[in-house]
Amino acid sequence: MKNLPYFCRCEVMRGFGHGSKQLSIPTANFPEQVVDNLPSDVSIGIYYGLEARVGTGEVHKMVVSIGWNPYYKNMKKSIETHIMRTFKEDFYGEILNVAIADYLRTEKNFDSLESLISAIQGDIEEAKK
Ligand SMILES: Cc1cc2nc3c(=O)[nH]c(=O)nc-3n(C[C@H](O)[C@H](O)[C@H](O)COP(=O)(O)O)c2cc1C
Repeated sequence: MKNLPYFCRCEVMRGFGHGSKQLSIPTANFPEQVVDNLPSDVSIGIYYGLEARVGTGEVHKMVVSIGWNPYYKNMKKSIETHIMRTFKEDFYGEILNVAIADYLRTEKNFDSLESLISAIQGDIEEAKK
């Protein structure tokens, strides 16, 4: 993927809301224009990043999912960033900067919520390394 690392900077919008409620793994969603303007060689899948920064705040590690979330059968492609840090409050409308560094795996369907959560936790462990 010749466009990696790929840098995105845009405001955070509301997602479907499954991330924090069902998974306890909150994700920040980018708006449609960011999803539609991804270079064609940045394919569907799960990536880790070197940088995630809300506004002018601190820089944190992150994992990002690009795709249709087959477990939730979404009709729209999304870019969802999980920042590896706990935030006390939501930051919808704030500017999120991310640097997508490298590919971890393709997105998959799972037969249970527990399997999806455990796959995402595995991604987070890989990203830490
Ligand atoms: C690191 C990471 C890996 C993910 N992997 C998958 C996956 O393999 N399959 C899938 O259906 N969804 C995957 N997701 C997406 C979650 O299902 C998604 O974050 C969840 O639907 C919450 O989205 P929402 O808060 O916009 O509703 C992944 C998310 C993250 C952050």
